[in-house]
Amino acid sequence: MTADQTQPTAAIGFTTVKQAEKQALVNEVFAKVAQRYDQMNDLMSAGLHRLWKDDFVAMLNPPKSARAFRVLDVAGGTGDIAFRIARAGGKGTEVTVADISPEMVAEGARRAAGEGLAGRCRFMVANAEALPFPDGSFDAYTIAFGIRNVPDIPRALGGAFRVLKTRGRFQCLEFSHVDVPGLEAIYDAYSFTVIPAVGKVVTGDGQPYRYLVESIRTFPPAPVFAEMIAEAGFSRVAYRLLTAGTVAIHSGWRI
Ligand SMILES: C[S@@+](CC[C@H](N)C(=O)[O-])C[C@H]1O[C@@H](n2cnc3c(N)ncnc32)[C@H](O)[C@@H]1O
Repeated sequence: MTADQTQPTAAIGFTTVKQAEKQALVNEVFAKVAQRYDQMNDLMSAGLHRLWKDDFVAMLNPPKSARAFRVLDVAGGTGDIAFRIARAGGKGTEVTVADISPEMVAEGARRAAGEGLAGRCRFMVANAEALPFPDGSFDAYTIAFGIRNVPDIPRALGGAFRVLKTRGRFQCLEFSHVDVPGLEAIYDAYSFTVIPAVGKVVTGDGQPYRYLVESIRTFPPAPVFAEMIAEAGFSRVAYRLLTAGTVAIHSGWRI
């Protein structure tokens, strides 16, 4: 599939398509993997995603008191970040998970009920590019392994800025690019052969996992993404690389 010259384009893995088509293809991927998503995360990252998510939530540091702290977790999928935030925060911490995939949201809501967190973690279907919340609604906006799936990233970042209160916190956890010479070749070999193969064994289809790997490679390097966050209006933008640069945590403030 190729894109014509007149429409905004987006990368879907290594293929360039019209932005409008990218979302439909991404949705197909997550509809297929929703029920095995958590299991696959553990297998593909050898459990590392748990440490990255713990680190991300520790950095957010939700208040332990009963003070109201409203968090929007966009592309929150099956709730891994939301549950960690709810557990780390006090009674006043509430998380709204907004994800475009009804299948991922259904899985997340089921898990929340199972873990006794349904009262503090609310799940809804919503698009990061068109958030259905009034301006200045949240104290924090989080997005983990979600932003690279969104076709129009500047639009999503603009939405993040809009829904945050003044002094609101933006945090993004996303795959990045290996910064250790020599490790890249090993990481590539693992990513392009092992991950789709494991995906095929567990879910019966390797293609969604090929997309996931390709979309990581086409996502901007950390300094470039930091500039995009600043361009959306955020102040004190910073990033931290984890695990040899495979993952980055970006942050900023709405001042
Ligand atoms: C890799 S999963 C991450 C899930 C979760 N945040 C985690 O860390 O486990 C990516 C999620 O992004 C969601 N997504 C993709 N495009 C989106 C969009 N435009 N708006 C909201 N969510 C989107 C997908 O449905 C999927 O649940």
